[in-house]
Amino acid sequence: SSPSENLTAGRNSIVVLKKWWGTCRECGEIGTMKRCTTESADEKVNGTQVSENVVRSWLPKEATPVRLSEVSSRIDESNWRISLPGVFGAEVERVLGGGLVPGSLVLVGGDPGVGKSTLLLQIAALIAEGNDADVPARVIYVSGEESVEQIANRADRLCIRTEELFLHSNTDIENNSGTINSLGIEDILEQAQPLFPRALVIDSIQTVYLRSDWKRWRSCAEPRYLDLGHYSVEAFHIPSANWSIGHVTKSGEIAGPRLLEHIVDVVLYMEVGEKLSSHRLLRSMKNRFGSTDELGVFKMSESGLQGVSNPSEMFLGEQHSNSDYLAGLAVAVIMDGSRAFLIEIQALCVAGSSAVRHLNGVQGSRADMIISGIFLNVVSGISLTETSGDLAIAAAICSSFLEFPIPNGVAFIAEIDLSGELRMVCASIGKRVNTLAKLGYKKCIVPKPAEKSFPDAQLQGMEILGCVNLKEMINTVF
Ligand code: TYD
Ligand code: MG
Repeated sequence: SSPSENLTAGRNSIVVLKKWWGTCRECGEIGTMKRCTTESADEKVNGTQVSENVVRSWLPKEATPVRLSEVSSRIDESNWRISLPGVFGAEVERVLGGGLVPGSLVLVGGDPGVGKSTLLLQIAALIAEGNDADVPARVIYVSGEESVEQIANRADRLCIRTEELFLHSNTDIENNSGTINSLGIEDILEQAQPLFPRALVIDSIQTVYLRSDWKRWRSCAEPRYLDLGHYSVEAFHIPSANWSIGHVTKSGEIAGPRLLEHIVDVVLYMEVGEKLSSHRLLRSMKNRFGSTDELGVFKMSESGLQGVSNPSEMFLGEQHSNSDYLAGLAVAVIMDGSRAFLIEIQALCVAGSSAVRHLNGVQGSRADMIISGIFLNVVSGISLTETSGDLAIAAAICSSFLEFPIPNGVAFIAEIDLSGELRMVCASIGKRVNTLAKLGYKKCIVPKPAEKSFPDAQLQGMEILGCVNLKEMINTVF
C-alpha cells in the first residue's frame, strides 16, 4: 500500500515499538506490510533518499510525552470487547471483567494437567463460532506440545466443530539433542498473518523462541525454553493491529521468571477447587481491564470444562451428604499472597482427656490460648499461620463439644483475644469475604466492627454476621 518501496524500507527501519504491525498505519489495509531485515532496510534507506519527514511521521504518537489534559479521547472498552456466549463464556467473562479485549495479551498459568489447554481450546472455539457473515472470526491455536491430531482428538471430545478454528503445531524440530517441541515466534506470525485471525492461542509460551536467538538457543545441549519458574503458561492473544508476543522470548531470556506477568495485560491462574477435585477455579491475578477479585468456577467433565453459575449448590450439596461427619468442622479463610483460600479446621473434643494437646498446622502458642484437651487439625496439611483462623478453631471445638454440626455455608473470619472478644483481621478482609460470596457461602461470622463494611453487590446475597465475642458467636451459630 505504500507509495514507494523506499518508504516501506524506511518504515521498517524505524519500528521503534518493536511490535508486529498487522495493518499499514498509513492506509489501514491489512496484509500490505512487507518484511525486510535490518540490513536490507538500512541499505535501501541509505541507497535512496528517504526524506527525514516521512520517516519521522511514522514515529508513534506515544513516543513523545503528552500532557494529560491534551489526551482528548478515551478508549471505550465496553464497545469493543469480544463477548463469549453461554454459561462457560459467562464464567470466563466474569474473570476477565467482561468480554475479551481485542489486542490484549492474556497469560494463563497453572499446574500441569489442571486444564489450561482445555480451557483455551474451548475459548478459541467460542470466539471462532462468533462468526458473522462479513468478518470471519478465525482463531489460530498454536501448540508446541501436541500434534494437530492430538488437538483434534481433544476438540472431538469437546464437541468443537467450527470451521474457523485453525490448528498449527510444530513438534519435530531437530537440535543437537534430538527432536524437540518448539516454534519460532516469527514463523508463527508469518503463518498466522495471511489468515487474519481474531485471536491467537499459544500453548504453551515456554515452547516458543525468537528466531533471531535460534543460533544461541540451538548451541545449548539442552533445549532452553523460557524460564517461567513454577508457572506453566499458556498465552492467549487477541490481536488487533499489533502483535506483541515477540517481546516474550527475548525479554524472558534476559530477565527473571515473572517478567512475562509484567508485560501482559491479564494474568489468570487456574487451580483445582479446594473441596472437590473435579472443580476448577480461575482467578485473575492481574487485569488491566478489570478487577482482580473475580473468580470463575468450572467443573471438569467428560466433555471439557463447564461453567458453574451457582457454586453454592455445588459446595453446599456436597456437604449435606455427610452432615454427620461435619460436627467439629469449621471453615476459615486465609490469604496466600493476594489470594484468599478456604481451609477446613477439624476439632475433636475427647471427654476426660488430660491436658495434652495434639496440634497439626496450628501455632502452639495460639492454640494454647484457645483450647485444652482437644485434637485439632487443619485439613489438607496447610499450616495455619494467620490469626484470622482463631474463630474457626473455636467454632470447630464448640461444634465437636456440642456434637452439633456447623450449618452448611457458614464461614468464620476473626482473631480472638484473651477475653474471648473478636478482633478485626488485619489484612484483606474484603477479599476473603468476596471469595466466600463467590463460592456461594451463605453466612460469614466476622468481628462486630467489620459487619457493615461490605457493599451489597460484593456480598451476592451472603449474610454478614458481626459478633462481639465468642458467646455471641455460639448463640448465633449453634
Ligand atoms: P489439560 O488441558 O491438558 O491440562 P494442562 O494444559 O493444564 O496441562 O487437561 C488435562 C486434564 O483434563 C487431563 O487429565 C484430562 C482432563 N480432561 C477431562 O477430564 N475432560 C476433557 O474433556 C478433557 C479435554 C480433559
Ligand atoms: Mg497443556
